[in-house]
Amino acid sequence: MEQQLLQLAVSAREELDRCTTQASLEEFRIEYLGRKGRFSTIMRGLGAVAAADRPRIGQAANQVKAEVEALFVTRKEQLAESGNTRRHGLDFSLPGRKPVSGRLHPVSQVMQETCAIFASLGFAVAEGPDVEVDYYNFEALNIPPHHPARDMHDTFYFSESLLLRTHTSPMQARIMESRQPPLRVIAPGKVYRCDSDITHTPMFHQVEGFLVEKEVSFADLKGVLTIFTEKMFGKDLPLRFRPSFFPFTEPSAEVDIACVICQGSGCRVCKKSGWLEILGSGMIDPEVFRMVGYDPQVYSGFAFGLGIERIAMLKYGIDDIRLFYENDQRFLTQF
Ligand code: FA5
Repeated sequence: MEQQLLQLAVSAREELDRCTTQASLEEFRIEYLGRKGRFSTIMRGLGAVAAADRPRIGQAANQVKAEVEALFVTRKEQLAESGNTRRHGLDFSLPGRKPVSGRLHPVSQVMQETCAIFASLGFAVAEGPDVEVDYYNFEALNIPPHHPARDMHDTFYFSESLLLRTHTSPMQARIMESRQPPLRVIAPGKVYRCDSDITHTPMFHQVEGFLVEKEVSFADLKGVLTIFTEKMFGKDLPLRFRPSFFPFTEPSAEVDIACVICQGSGCRVCKKSGWLEILGSGMIDPEVFRMVGYDPQVYSGFAFGLGIERIAMLKYGIDDIRLFYENDQRFLTQF
């Protein structure tokens, strides 16, 4: 009988090692430790053992049973640890959570789309500094010190001659100064003005565009801007050219798009006009050409500066420009 007990201990150990699931562990428990299991069967034969041997064999039997039970508990814990069952109240068999993926900000999306449209029309892309000197931001654009047009810009100054650029137009002077016509360039970037309401933010994005060649006319400007708006908004959205003034273009025009918020009937976004301004433009002033060393008798050109947030407002029907910069996930994840 002692031999039987010894064999039982060995085979129980081997069998337990082969148990890899809770179900196989339960089968083991029934086969070895259950009421009708192998261990109980041996114990039932204890009555047939000689009375003198019974206490010793009985003690050995209890010891083997305690060992097998301990091995069983250890194996059960091992399986739980390895994730085959629930642990700490977590069910590892459930599917995982989907990671939240990032996406482009709506203003970046419209910026990319705008640049792609002008690239398809043959415009090359150039970039310039956000921190600009007074000369390029104003003087090279025919806005000398004390010119009243400086008031239109609500400039953030670092010092008398250093500032945050208020528009992307300084890129006209920077590029023309360093290259010769023919030129067909866009300059996208951030610009800054001390300004904030439902159609203005202190930091916003513009895309400057300019074309310099011989015999460029206002009709070319109108053509390029009409193609742009049709590609961006489709052919059905009304647009208008409205006479305006910029010291660096003559003649000048601003372009308005029919307000998509009120369909042109008038609301707080379009200030009851039915139109929202998206860009300033015009024929490059001969004085700007003279300052960069081009002969205005030979060359002519047009320029424009688009407000990207305004285009995004119209494209997505946003009635307050400041929503773009509140970092509210509920707003941003819609795009
Ligand atoms: C300019 O900035 C001129 N540099 C544009 C230009 C370029 C004219 C080349 C002629 C030739 P304006 O200040 O109007 O112009 O701004 C251009 C566009 O930027 C506006 O039509 C508007 O769409 C947008 N914009 C202006 N201020 C803000 C602001 N605070 N927040 C958001 N968008 C603005």
